[in-house]
Amino acid sequence: MGNTPLEDPELADKDKGTPPALDEDDIKLLKTYGVGPYASNIKKLEEDVKDLVKKVNELRGIKESDTGLAQPSHWDLVADKQAMQEEQPLQVARCTKIINPNTDDAKYVINVKQIAKFVVALGDRVAPTDIEEGMRVGVDRNKYQIQIPLPPKIDPSVTMMTVEEKPDVTYADVGGSKEQIEKMREVVELPMLHPEKFVQLGIDPPKGVLCYGPPGTGKTLLARAVANRTDACFIRVIGSELVQKYVGEGARMVRELFQMARSKKACIIFFDEVDAIGGARFDDGAGGDNEVQRTMLEIVNQLDGFDARGNVKVLMATNRPDTLDPALLRPGRLDRKVEFGLPDLESRTQIFNIHTRAMNIERGIRFELLARLCPSSTGADIRSVCTEAGMFAIRARRKVVMEKDFLDAINKVIKGYKKFSATPKYMAYN
Ligand SMILES: Nc1ncnc2c1ncn2[C@@H]1O[C@H](COP(=O)(O)OP(=O)(O)O)[C@@H](O)[C@H]1O
Ligand SMILES: [Mg+2]
Repeated sequence: MGNTPLEDPELADKDKGTPPALDEDDIKLLKTYGVGPYASNIKKLEEDVKDLVKKVNELRGIKESDTGLAQPSHWDLVADKQAMQEEQPLQVARCTKIINPNTDDAKYVINVKQIAKFVVALGDRVAPTDIEEGMRVGVDRNKYQIQIPLPPKIDPSVTMMTVEEKPDVTYADVGGSKEQIEKMREVVELPMLHPEKFVQLGIDPPKGVLCYGPPGTGKTLLARAVANRTDACFIRVIGSELVQKYVGEGARMVRELFQMARSKKACIIFFDEVDAIGGARFDDGAGGDNEVQRTMLEIVNQLDGFDARGNVKVLMATNRPDTLDPALLRPGRLDRKVEFGLPDLESRTQIFNIHTRAMNIERGIRFELLARLCPSSTGADIRSVCTEAGMFAIRARRKVVMEKDFLDAINKVIKGYKKFSATPKYMAYN
């Protein structure tokens, strides 16, 4: 070493172990290492866009932060406080009596629960015609003046029974039962669409329909089809829902149910499995009436309709018509009784067609033969046959269901499940 003269200063520096300091151009060059040609331009553009967005937000005035609050500069605490004081929460009271109604100095007796009774005037924003005796009202907390009329209180569990989403069952999904569909539509649709026909004849339209028949014959199915077709509000109640723990609760629910139904323009109430509450009255020896009977009596009372019932139709379904209380079935309460019998050959063929519509089946299956092979079976049995046939096809690792699968399924379902069938029992009772 040391034999080379200082010709190349850089080399010399390297030799000494200290690289030369990088100048600005070198740094720039190094920074672009591994970066695309327009990277810096793009970055600048992004910054510009951000600035612009910021400017736009500023010019727009209100900037939403994560908390959803306006910018502190836009706050007006004093005005807000004033607004809050003007609109105090109201208290619920009941207007029990109106003194001097329909005059200028009408006074209202209100009862605030657990506080006291007051005689008050109306607030500025309430019309005297809006307030009736026995109504729930909202009163302010200072002078207890009536500020708004309130709707009647209805149990939330009753409100929940309204069917809002229409079921996707249509009349085309019901096989056979033409007569039943016809009868049902006559009672439900005719009075709603052509009320004048009944007025001309001077008769009251029928109030309700009782559907009865063995289990699985499509009673619930048809009610769902009705719900789908009608524009009226549809309320579905299952009998057991009305059987409550405390005395009087069930009857109250029925009352609220009809109250809610009456408040609608047109309404259909469907009581499914009504034998849970509609059983014949009996004396249990304890000398008292029981809660279930009380609920049923309230239904009878509502059907008689001391209040005008408006456009409320009542459908009921049961598979034990023999146990129902005769009072419920008296003409004038449930006028129509529609029997859902076992489907005949043609209906069974139709039901097979309906349930295989969505299935991947071999062509030319003789549904009539299949229908012939399952006499005295219900729509539910036939549906079960179709499902079983599909299971046989899956077991055989096939993608299509063959006629043989259906035959096997009929053997399995109709012959095998005979012990469970409720139809003979139904036939024996009726
Ligand atoms: N007439 C019918 N047409 C088509 N399917 C039917 C028919 N009757 C019964 N079913 C089938 O049986 C099932 C049970 O019927 P459902 O109406 O619940 O019987 P229930 O009379 O006991 O209320 C239905 O979901 C439907 O798939
Ligand atoms: Mg049912």
